[in-house]
Amino acid sequence: LAYDAEKSTLVSLCGKVAGHADVTGAEALERLFLSFPQTKTYFSHFNLSHGSPDLLRHGGKVVNALINAAGHLDDLSGALSALSDLHAFQLRVDPGNFRLLSHSIQVTLAAHFGSEFTPVAQSAWDKFIAAVSEILVSKYR
Ligand code: HEM
Repeated sequence: LAYDAEKSTLVSLCGKVAGHADVTGAEALERLFLSFPQTKTYFSHFNLSHGSPDLLRHGGKVVNALINAAGHLDDLSGALSALSDLHAFQLRVDPGNFRLLSHSIQVTLAAHFGSEFTPVAQSAWDKFIAAVSEILVSKYR
């Protein structure tokens, strides 16, 4: 992230999302699956209906992983090493899907934080999730 302002807005919003990681993540996943149905193929073993325990549990995992990563901006690769192995060697998620999830997360944040999700905040999240995604797909072969 280029600017201190971006780092501080990212970390600050993470603090506000932390208590609602599951509902925030579930909404982002619901938006992902509705807007980009091809992404559902990775989750055929999940109940994808609105508010399902699967969506809440997985949404919480994804958002908490992002919050944890935001606490390790100086060592993102180290913080995401295990997740990188998982996505590359086991899940083999098509890299293009990461941009779709990033979009869905940003729309979710915009819907909940309104004017607080400023252009600087959005830019920070966009770059941050792009950096995380870069690491999660870095071990593909
Ligand atoms: C699993 C994070 C992108 C598909 C996970 C887990 C986390 C996570 C924390 C759980 C790992 C565990 O249980 O040990 C992330 C983050 C992403 C991302 C931070 C990007 C910012 C994606 C994308 C897809 C995807 C784009 C596909 C569209 C999956 C699947 C699982 C998984 C299928 C296994 C679910 C299960 O069976 O429980 N991810 N993920 N991930 N992820 Fe990702």
